[in-house]
Amino acid sequence: KVLILNFGGQYTQLIARRIRECNVYCEIISSKKSAEEIKAMNPSAIVLSGGPASVYTKDAPQCDKRIFALGVPVLGICYGAQLMAQLLGGKVSMAQVREYGRAELTVDNTSPLFRGIDRVTSAWMSHTDSITSLPDGFKVIASTPNCPVAAMGDIENKLYAVQFHPEVEHTAKGMDIIRNFLFIISGLHADWTMDSLVEQTIKDIRKEVGDSDAICAISGGVDSTVAAVLVHRAIGDKLHCILVDNGLLRLNEAEDVEKLLKEEFEMDIRRVDEQETFLSALKGVTDPEEKRKAIGNTFIRVFDREAKKYDKVEFLVQGTLYPDVIESGDEMASTIKSHHNVGGLPEDMNFKLIEPLRYLFKDEVRQVGKELGIPDEILMRHPFPGPGLAIRILGEVTEERLDILRRADYIVTREIKKAGLYNSLWQAFAVLPDIHSVGVMGDDRTYSETIVLRAVTSSDGMTADWARLPYDVLDRISRQIINEVYEVNRVVYDITSKPPATIEWE
Ligand code: XMP
Repeated sequence: KVLILNFGGQYTQLIARRIRECNVYCEIISSKKSAEEIKAMNPSAIVLSGGPASVYTKDAPQCDKRIFALGVPVLGICYGAQLMAQLLGGKVSMAQVREYGRAELTVDNTSPLFRGIDRVTSAWMSHTDSITSLPDGFKVIASTPNCPVAAMGDIENKLYAVQFHPEVEHTAKGMDIIRNFLFIISGLHADWTMDSLVEQTIKDIRKEVGDSDAICAISGGVDSTVAAVLVHRAIGDKLHCILVDNGLLRLNEAEDVEKLLKEEFEMDIRRVDEQETFLSALKGVTDPEEKRKAIGNTFIRVFDREAKKYDKVEFLVQGTLYPDVIESGDEMASTIKSHHNVGGLPEDMNFKLIEPLRYLFKDEVRQVGKELGIPDEILMRHPFPGPGLAIRILGEVTEERLDILRRADYIVTREIKKAGLYNSLWQAFAVLPDIHSVGVMGDDRTYSETIVLRAVTSSDGMTADWARLPYDVLDRISRQIINEVYEVNRVVYDITSKPPATIEWE
């Protein structure tokens, strides 16, 4: 495996993605680990990530210098490159000309790092500091007009450093450079695949759980479903799934997942109907954060009660993903997801955690799900907030209003799917604001509810743009909601991006 030492660079996760795209397993770890700890992890190669600091300032993050003597190939990127230069006796100073963006890169393609790459290519630069003198044993292997040391290498000791970012798309031959580092320099093989991962994870879980049992809270979402099916492969009926139906799910959602797990996968899943409990906890609550709290606390109470019904249970399965695990700074911590989780379980529940997806990115989770035979219908589902429809109903949540929203939302999903747009959107859903307006239907005057249509594109939910849905799709959604949901007489489209708005309305 490859270890990526994280110095807090904005592209650290992207480096991990690129290495995995080469079918090589990698992990992001804290830059503070000692050479002994790193050696114990038995890496075949080490990458030093970029980072926002300057190596010559007082609090600049460091790494253990002895890692360069482990005999393991190292590739330093940007900040990592400068740190390597400095730690090995070279010099780094503020560049005379800062470089941001695409630059013409001239490489020495007799060096293993640039083998097979044209002498002149382009690279993405983003730095204010430069390496100004090389450590012993190194030579320059690439340069740009403004950066004489765009890459350096100690070929004998397999130590390489690049000032540019091979992991971003704008570096034309970035993937070739990464491949050269992995395969030519480090002698790795492209053998990390989803089926080997699934196999290994199953073995590990089996060993860890031993004679005990495990429980899993199923939310209806992709992550908890994939995690549960994977753990079930490992320990079979010793996994008990609990689906808390809080009555705030989308139409048929609880039923679909229950049916899939019970009938297709023959898993032990129990659905507990708690709509009443949640509705009474939400009675009179209109503040968004209060709603979240009420739902979270109720979930914990219900789940705790249900979990106590199993006496041999020692483990709790969680669908935590890699982005939740990597803290933006440098310490790695397994944090139980609180806000963006089924409801957030308290740490004092006394379970050992099994997080089979903790090293995976979302799209990798979908691949695992595919490998396990979970149908696309569930794998490709749009993200859905833990507090569910409650935060899409402005004002008080009641059974009647939930019912209106659920039917309208179903039509939105149905029409978006019919138009072939579902997979290209991050989310598309209906919101029920607390607005009544006047209309005419037949000869009657109406005074009824408004539905807001929200559809956005996004790659991670952090920022989003409203989707330019075709007029005829908007038209169909509007007419069908009004025809089928008689409580509604007006449909409007939300044309705000995030920021300044959020995706959800509460
Ligand atoms: P916002 O509304 O903050 O949403 O732009 C960003 C993404 O997060 C989801 N979301 C939540 N997920 N619990 C969750 O599990 C929550 O309380 C929550 N609030 C928002 C939202 O659906 C979107 O994908």
